[in-house]
Amino acid sequence: MRSHYCGTLRAEHIDQQITLCGWVDRRRDHGGVIFLDVRDRDGIVQVVFDPDVGEFFQRADKVRSEYVVKIVGRVRARSANTINPNMPTGTIEVLGKEIEILNAAATPPFPLDEHNSVGEEVRLRYRYLDLRRPEMQERMRLRARITSTLRGYLDAQGFLDLETPILTRATPEGARDYLVPSRTHAGKFFALPQSPQLFKQLLMVSGFDRYYQIAKCFRDEDLRADRQPEFTQIDIETSFLDAEDIMAITEGMIRDLFKTVLDVDLGAFPRMHYSEAINRFGSDKPDLRIPLELVTVCDLMKQVDFKVFSGPANDPKSRVAALKVTGGGAKLTRKQIDEYGNYVGNYGAKGLAWIKVNELAKGIEGLQSPIIKFMPADVVTQLIERLNAVDGDIIFFGADKKKIVADAMGALRIKVGHDLNMLERPWAPMWVVDFPMFEESDDGSLTSCHHPFTAPLCTPEELAQNPAAALSNAYDMVLNGTELGGGSIRIHNRDMQEAVFRVLGIGAEEAEEKFGFLLDALKYGAPPHGGLAFGLDRLVMLMTGAKSIRDVIAFPKTQTAACLMTDAPGAVDAAQLRELNIRLRKNEE
Ligand code: AMO
Ligand code: AMP
Repeated sequence: MRSHYCGTLRAEHIDQQITLCGWVDRRRDHGGVIFLDVRDRDGIVQVVFDPDVGEFFQRADKVRSEYVVKIVGRVRARSANTINPNMPTGTIEVLGKEIEILNAAATPPFPLDEHNSVGEEVRLRYRYLDLRRPEMQERMRLRARITSTLRGYLDAQGFLDLETPILTRATPEGARDYLVPSRTHAGKFFALPQSPQLFKQLLMVSGFDRYYQIAKCFRDEDLRADRQPEFTQIDIETSFLDAEDIMAITEGMIRDLFKTVLDVDLGAFPRMHYSEAINRFGSDKPDLRIPLELVTVCDLMKQVDFKVFSGPANDPKSRVAALKVTGGGAKLTRKQIDEYGNYVGNYGAKGLAWIKVNELAKGIEGLQSPIIKFMPADVVTQLIERLNAVDGDIIFFGADKKKIVADAMGALRIKVGHDLNMLERPWAPMWVVDFPMFEESDDGSLTSCHHPFTAPLCTPEELAQNPAAALSNAYDMVLNGTELGGGSIRIHNRDMQEAVFRVLGIGAEEAEEKFGFLLDALKYGAPPHGGLAFGLDRLVMLMTGAKSIRDVIAFPKTQTAACLMTDAPGAVDAAQLRELNIRLRKNEE
């Protein structure tokens, strides 16, 4: 129907007869001349109808915003005083000769311009209109560009794009499963995959050597800005490669992606041990754009006359950590400091002690703090020295169980870094390695840090002796404080897999029932293998600068895992339930 996309017209098209198809972005009536801004996937162009085109002029006068039109016209230069340097098509316009209304449109429930501040609920209800907005079009196009670049890289590296089932059994990635009732097997359920983990390992057993898939994953978990119940992974698995090789290939992939799509050189990604990340940044996904670090000061606080500090300082499971904020920290007001105190409270901290360094030359007098009175002068001196504090700094303190201190002070670090505009560079990629194999739940039992197929960096015997100390051969890629991807070398021998199940309290029977097929496969010549998976939505979010992954998914779910547009999940009729052998429990009320 069309000869050109609206947004592609330039001075080189002047005097050409063209045909456009698209939506009316705006209609203006300028003293007997009608201006239509016509929009399509590639952008917007201005079309002018003069009264001398008769019936077409009448028709152009009738169109309204979002009408679908087909226009025949001639491209001409704009006069010097009407050139619009803010529009890619701003040096030209189209002199309309014919217009056909392909479809009328009701008035949209919200304006579709770039700078509107419409509530997300309305946007999601009319997502197909929201997606017409240039900002959303741009994000979706970038998303498509990202996936095609990634595919290009992986195809060139010899990876095979293979699909794995959506109707399957539970895959343990630590979230709740989405279940699908089986009609043909009464009382039984499929689970939607939380990831293709088990299948991709089986593809390695089958000898495919290098697999990838842009795979949908489903997890029924608490949602946040960077989590969706249904999301997409760039899922990768390889055989006969070690962790170094896998990190090199996938780091190369992300570097290539940033260069191709954003023209950004990320450089080599630094590596950091998990324990170092927690100690220095209070997080296993540190945001290295922010030049603030936690410093342990337990040794200094053991003797102080302040139980809040001396207690944790003397308890091996606890920690006292200091966070020095340079660059105007001491200018924070009492109100701001109190707000930070409340903020760390969200992470379980019971308080937020602080010392303002006003004027070191004046000694203790030059410091301002609610806790200084509890500290001997030599402790204060050593503290100032260890932190290299100078006039104008503020030092915050967290004292509690290690996990609370890491969570609270790690979050404070990020918040203060953003509040005081401390971001040193736009991109900070890194790897976090040497994760523990297991983490302790509140009830003392152990659960996998990654998933139970992750290989430990020790023998099955050592694992059995001291599982809490075992490290895993796992690696996470982190970008700007977001976990972009994670993976590991897998267990490829049955003894080790059984040893891990034992630590996790998964008995032989349960293991057989849940993962018998995997354990069997490990018997039949499983190669050493490993891989990782990236969160595509998170990657696109970071690359587009979107605030939430909902803004880079065409049809996302809300925070309560619903689709406002289709009204899913929805009720089903009784006959359908009967067919599935399902009877609903009576509602409590
Ligand atoms: P993991 O569970 O770490 O590993 O997931 C890999 C990556 O997927 C992204 N991600 C999510 N993105 C959006 N919404 C969610 N709910 C969500 N959950 C995870 C993250 C994360 O880094 N099978 C393993 C990978 C492997 O070992 O190969 C796995 O799924 O960016
Ligand atoms: P208090 O003696 O309770 O008034 O506390 C003195 C200072 O220590 C206040 O600034 C509190 O916010 C702070 N504080 C209390 N508990 C902790 C804690 N667990 N970690 C860090 N600071 C704390």
